Amino acid sequence: MTEALLTAEDMVVRFHTGHGKSASTITALNKVSLEVARGEVLGLVGESGSGKSTMARVISGLQSYTEGSLRFAGQPLDLKRNKKDRRAIQMVFQDPYASLDPRMTVRQTISEVLRVHAIVPPGEVGKRCEELMDLVQLPTRILDSRPGGMSGGQRQRIAIARALAVNPELLVADEAVSALDVSVQAGVVNLLSDLRAELGLSILFIAHDLAVVRTLCDRVAVIYHGDIVEQRNCLDLFDDPHDDYTKRLLGAVPRLDGPRASSLGQGSLRGR
Ligand SMILES: Nc1ncnc2c1ncn2[C@@H]1O[C@H](COP(=O)(O)OP(=O)(O)OP(=O)(O)O)[C@@H](O)[C@H]1O
Ligand SMILES: [Mg+2]
Repeated sequence: MTEALLTAEDMVVRFHTGHGKSASTITALNKVSLEVARGEVLGLVGESGSGKSTMARVISGLQSYTEGSLRFAGQPLDLKRNKKDRRAIQMVFQDPYASLDPRMTVRQTISEVLRVHAIVPPGEVGKRCEELMDLVQLPTRILDSRPGGMSGGQRQRIAIARALAVNPELLVADEAVSALDVSVQAGVVNLLSDLRAELGLSILFIAHDLAVVRTLCDRVAVIYHGDIVEQRNCLDLFDDPHDDYTKRLLGAVPRLDGPRASSLGQGSLRGR
């Protein structure tokens, strides 16, 4: 058995909304357990509102929880993270437009992260910026551009470079390729796959596109109404789903080459 990097056990998150008579409680996570091994890509799939982003935020320390426990590299993870734990788990979001400061060049954005976390000595910041561009397969000249002129794919690579700047062990990618055109998506998915191979990076990959999940992930966890209903090897799960909800999720996905063909993993959960 491969070593567990992140173990989440029985995580519960409730949101309280409204006041007085209109007050209500939403249970976003209802005892969610999952595990990401070192060097593994775990997919997290489920329809809109099932709790994927809430789980991503819990793991990244951005969301509090009422029950459950998190362990990282064998140690308990406190809700209030120390700097080392904050560096170790980095998040990449869906919208690369919103997550980069339009006034700053890429070099400024990444240098700031390197300086704040004292990742390399001041004299080596420039070299590290260039290495990070190599890692995300962008030309180093892009360091002196601002996000405004860049494509969605380039921006998302910059967001990944910024996350990698602090040498994380786990990357939590919440719909990180969902807003990109299909051809650009493939490039970023290949990049994540290369990063896992080169750096031994572990990735929690949240997506609604099952075809992408099938290409990238080693294992998949299926979440339904805040509950993990199935968590297994990716190819096994796609070939022979055990849980009824997983079957529906996979079966409800139309294939482009006609209704009679097998319908596994060819489409998107969005808008259903
Ligand atoms: N800050 C919040 N306040 C109140 N309810 C919330 C909050 N954040 C999430 N929720 C609710 O928790 C549930 C899970 O939401 P979450 O964003 O985790 O789903 P998701 O699986 O990421 O969906 P999507 O695929 O649309 O991104 C939903 O019912 C959502 O409305
Ligand atoms: Mg979400």
